[in-house]
Amino acid sequence: MEDRNLARYERVYKQVAGLISATSHPITRMATMAALLHHKMKDYFWTGFYFLEGGDLIVGPYQGPVACLKLKKDVGVCWAAINRGESVVVGNVNEFPGHIACSSLSNSEIVVPVKDKMGQIVAVLDVDSRAFNRFEDSDRQGLEKLVTLIYQ
Ligand code: SME
Repeated sequence: MEDRNLARYERVYKQVAGLISATSHPITRMATMAALLHHKMKDYFWTGFYFLEGGDLIVGPYQGPVACLKLKKDVGVCWAAINRGESVVVGNVNEFPGHIACSSLSNSEIVVPVKDKMGQIVAVLDVDSRAFNRFEDSDRQGLEKLVTLIYQ
């Protein structure tokens, strides 16, 4: 399962890499990435980005149901990834203290920091699933590699 999952992310990586050479604009690249991931990966229910701007986390390009526009500071999974400076995988969001439920249908979640060319965290990629325990280490690895394409 792990290998097949990684192979799937590798295919998405190659496809995104090919498509995004058209422009270096991070928003265009994020939008393309969100659309591809959302439609290619199984059980992705909400797929998108939050920008860290002026100390706030505000929503960026995404696919899925309408989400919270701004996330309350230092609360929830996205802020945990920012504050820890690393990806956060949550098997059951109901057990994550402070989890922000933009949709009550989400049950598991992964959040991956996005860094600019200087290595500063400027955004996060957030994926929610209706399935419990949807994300494993291979998802983390696949998504962490993918987001390096945004500010390349
Ligand atoms: N659940 C996230 C909020 C964003 S939505 O899932 C799209 C959080 O706890 O930070």
